[in-house]
Amino acid sequence: MSVTATTAAATPTADRAVCAPLPVLGRDVTVPLVTGGDVTYAALDYAASAPALQRVWDDVAAYAPYYGSVHRGAGYLSQLSTDLFENARRTVAEFLDCRPADQVVFTRSTTDSLNLLARALPAGCQVFVFETEHHASLLPWRDARVTFLDAPRTPRQAVETLERALADRDPHGPALVCVTGASNVTGELWPVRELAAAAHAHGARIVLDAAQLAPHHPVSVRELDVDWVAFSGHKLYAPFGSGVLAGRADWLTAADPYLAGGGASRKVTRREDGGVAVEWHESAARHEAGSPNVIGAYSIASACKALTEAGFETLVARERRLIDTVRAGLAEVPEVRILSLFGDDAPRVGVISFVVEGWNSSHFAAALSAEYGIGVRDGLFCAHPLVRTLLGADPGTQGECGAPEAAPGEKSLNAIRVSFGAGTPDEHVERFVRAVRELVRDGAKWRYRTEDGRCVPAV
Ligand SMILES: Cc1ncc(COP(=O)(O)O)c(C=O)c1O
Repeated sequence: MSVTATTAAATPTADRAVCAPLPVLGRDVTVPLVTGGDVTYAALDYAASAPALQRVWDDVAAYAPYYGSVHRGAGYLSQLSTDLFENARRTVAEFLDCRPADQVVFTRSTTDSLNLLARALPAGCQVFVFETEHHASLLPWRDARVTFLDAPRTPRQAVETLERALADRDPHGPALVCVTGASNVTGELWPVRELAAAAHAHGARIVLDAAQLAPHHPVSVRELDVDWVAFSGHKLYAPFGSGVLAGRADWLTAADPYLAGGGASRKVTRREDGGVAVEWHESAARHEAGSPNVIGAYSIASACKALTEAGFETLVARERRLIDTVRAGLAEVPEVRILSLFGDDAPRVGVISFVVEGWNSSHFAAALSAEYGIGVRDGLFCAHPLVRTLLGADPGTQGECGAPEAAPGEKSLNAIRVSFGAGTPDEHVERFVRAVRELVRDGAKWRYRTEDGRCVPAV
């Protein structure tokens, strides 16, 4: 079953009472409003970093007294920590439904995972990537021949565009396709299985950027038939500095270690010529030099278990309802334009970007925060080419990742992104919809100014 089909099948019939949000940290945090008083913070920026699941926090707290070194200590706690770390690897492999021979490498993040893979490309590898990707997927391939593909307007067009590009390539050399599972700008799902089939039909491999997909949907390496998957713990309710690259071992084992150092090396000896000879590990440890982040890995495993036990079917159905609430609310405001590549009916996760006619997006986001206690993101979301395409902007126009270049009221080349997930209460998205309606109808109640590239309330 493709990712697209999985989502389409999940319809919002679930009962509110049955589908309570998963407990996350920070759900009772209050923040001051510029207009006076306090309000419970509505964290609607999950796509950047999601709050920690309470379960993850509790697991980490329970383990913390037993914390010890990994792969390098004879003591009881070192052995316990090593077991925990290696078990985390197995849990992640299960979560991703990996093939038996796949490796799970713990990294710092999706960005780190994709840079690691970029360093492991065989000589002469050609890389194919859509311009719509997050910069983490767009930019790491600096030593390869990269073909950038234009933004498709339908999932079918995405597959056809890739097929055409692959048909033109040198069929003898290695090739890699890098594609997102869910866009960090539009939230739309990409036809991953179909793209994987196209890649494989042309002798190419494929890596799935699941940074925005894994927190919202089951990801099966086997079903999607992708060669690698990358994701980040901090978007998967496990904000302890770890990420994952999982998939085929051969390119990883053939490559030099990503970092050179202890842990990656099995044996180091002095050579007769005075130099040093190194035997590197062939397991995942090859690319995990240095002391591993056991808490990061353990927290990811804890999140994987929590999401699996909660049941993705339930989580998807609940999120679908939140998506419908937000999209229906925004559709009632004629000044709002939702950014989309694939159209209204496209299956998507809880990530929605939009612009408001007559508003600088940074000004709008600042007012949502200061006057309603709602945290969203504004900017180009580290996907500059995609946002420019969606806004119909000249490719040369200025615009910074996360920083607005225009003052309040001026035309801006940026957008507003609201994003949510398993821990989001209905009240947060309902407050968001109400706030958008009020701001557009009545304007901001406060004055704002730009300071260090950010729009802030004027005091
Ligand atoms: C689709 C996508 N890929 C990759 C990344 C990079 O993730 P990280 O910053 O955790 O490395 C992000 C982050 O927003 C993302 O949304």
